[in-house]
Amino acid sequence: MNILLTGASGQLGTELFPLLSELGNVTAVDRNRGPLGALSQDLTDLHQCEIMLNSIRPDWVVNAAAYTSVDQAENNQELAFRLNADLPACLAHWSANNQCSLLHFSTDYVFDGSAKRAYREDDPTRPINVYGDSKRAGELAIGASGCHHLIVRTSWVYSTHGNNFLLTMLRLAGQRPQLGVVSDQTGCPTWARNLARTAVQLLRAMESEQKWHDYGGIYHYCDSTVTTWYDFARKIFEHAVELGLLQTMPVLNAVESDEYPQLAERPRYSVLDTGTVCERFGIIPPDLKWSIKECLKDYQRDTQVR
Ligand SMILES: NC(=O)c1ccc[n+]([C@@H]2O[C@H](COP(=O)([O-])OP(=O)(O)OC[C@H]3O[C@@H](n4cnc5c(N)ncnc54)[C@H](OP(=O)(O)O)[C@@H]3O)[C@@H](O)[C@H]2O)c1
Repeated sequence: MNILLTGASGQLGTELFPLLSELGNVTAVDRNRGPLGALSQDLTDLHQCEIMLNSIRPDWVVNAAAYTSVDQAENNQELAFRLNADLPACLAHWSANNQCSLLHFSTDYVFDGSAKRAYREDDPTRPINVYGDSKRAGELAIGASGCHHLIVRTSWVYSTHGNNFLLTMLRLAGQRPQLGVVSDQTGCPTWARNLARTAVQLLRAMESEQKWHDYGGIYHYCDSTVTTWYDFARKIFEHAVELGLLQTMPVLNAVESDEYPQLAERPRYSVLDTGTVCERFGIIPPDLKWSIKECLKDYQRDTQVR
């Protein structure tokens, strides 16, 4: 199998690379040549992107590249739409015309957060910020292309590198004795490795035209624990103390979203219902406790090596 992986040095791309490498020949692509020796390509240049696709001729495109700065997207609408809508549209169009399949990722931020129960795949979308809007436009473009595709919507992704809540909390804990963390937004933190494992399990399952007919489309995947940013922070610190990464727990103060103004509005409730992916593919999402612990053990190993 010939696989093209974009966003190879991102949180998710880094976890996908070794798993995809077990399935075939992976060409990893990123803006800068990273530790994986990735092909360097600015993916906002769609013409170059098509040249790259024609030269690699993948059987699968796995698109882990995205514009993920939720706040900055408010002032960089054009760039956010280029990466999150035009790029997937280009990848999907090429895939449709070249018997290629596309695995793409989207977000809980396609919803407005007003639901009283977990969001299902076919619930109406209504993004409330530019990032969510641009990701929804990407989903629609892929759907309209007619290519074989899987789109995995996920939420609150963290890992041992990149920009994410877990690393931000660890950094701030070393700088401040007290931290204010938002306690009125509810969602499901997802370890990038769990997401990568699920995505690859889905990809492996699509081995026939019948499977595409029955199973192609959008899925929700997040880890199993529903929480707030405040409780997520508390759990990170508890495990960090347990592993000796922190001496003591910092004092945590619960704050309301209104007291912590950000450029982009966030959905208050963005829990994704993972029932379909679990039922169809036998996925069992791990819980937060186990996932944070495993992630922090990796973090500890990485920091000891450095
Ligand atoms: N992070 C979350 O909390 C979250 C939540 C829900 C859904 N998702 C979705 O999950 C997927 C993976 O997210 P992630 O957290 O792994 O994102 P990430 O860590 O920000 O990685 C994004 C990747 O895209 C690359 N990229 C960005 N602009 C590029 C350009 N112009 N040319 C080439 N490469 C470019 C980045 O390269 P650079 O490092 O050079 O910028 C990076 O490797 C995305 O579809 C995202 O929308 C994420």
